[in-house]
Amino acid sequence: MKITWLGHAAFLIEGRDKVLIDPFLTGNPKAPIGHDKVDCDVICVTHGHADHLGDAVEIARRTGATVASIVEMSMYIERCDVKSVGFNLGGTAKVENTEMTMVPAFHSSSIGAPGLEFSAAMAVGLVVDTEKPVYHAGDTCVFGDMKLIGELYRPDVALLPIGGFFTMDPRQAALATSLIEPKMVVPMHYGTWDPIDQDPKEFERLVRESSSKAEVAILEPGEPLEV
Ligand code: NI
Ligand code: MN
Repeated sequence: MKITWLGHAAFLIEGRDKVLIDPFLTGNPKAPIGHDKVDCDVICVTHGHADHLGDAVEIARRTGATVASIVEMSMYIERCDVKSVGFNLGGTAKVENTEMTMVPAFHSSSIGAPGLEFSAAMAVGLVVDTEKPVYHAGDTCVFGDMKLIGELYRPDVALLPIGGFFTMDPRQAALATSLIEPKMVVPMHYGTWDPIDQDPKEFERLVRESSSKAEVAILEPGEPLEV
């Protein structure tokens, strides 16, 4: 299985399917590829904020990929005339050959349209299994039930925000890593803009000093990770 960071919270996971998560490429200064060049079968969106919903609709229109998200988001996406699956916390959806389980995140969610900003239910995390389970935490602070997510789904890889300001910072993300106990942890949602400027090496140091045995993989946007 191959995981490629597309900058910010965007990842392409290639296993049985090509699964694109939080495809914010247009306007993402770290995106290594334009939205018109990405190929995928399935798109997952953790919440409505523009840096996560991103180009999901445009990419789904071009590729025919199904977009999976929480029910209220999916109603919006469906109205954009793309295939949409809406499910909810604790639920597992099978989309193409990929199983995904929706898990909590502590964060807000809204969708912005010109002259209009509306609530889009809540933000979530996702455990996506298209060969091996990968936990994408979405935008969130650390919370104790990450331990349950680790126990239940035993993710090989956890993708965790470390940028602070909008989400957890390196210190919280290191604690999150010891709660989840993935084999590998990849920091994300940092370095895109000034308020979320962070040193991923600081996160790596904190994980090494903790009880966690997780390997820290610091990726460059566009650089594939074989898992
Ligand atoms: Ni957000
Ligand atoms: Mn965000």
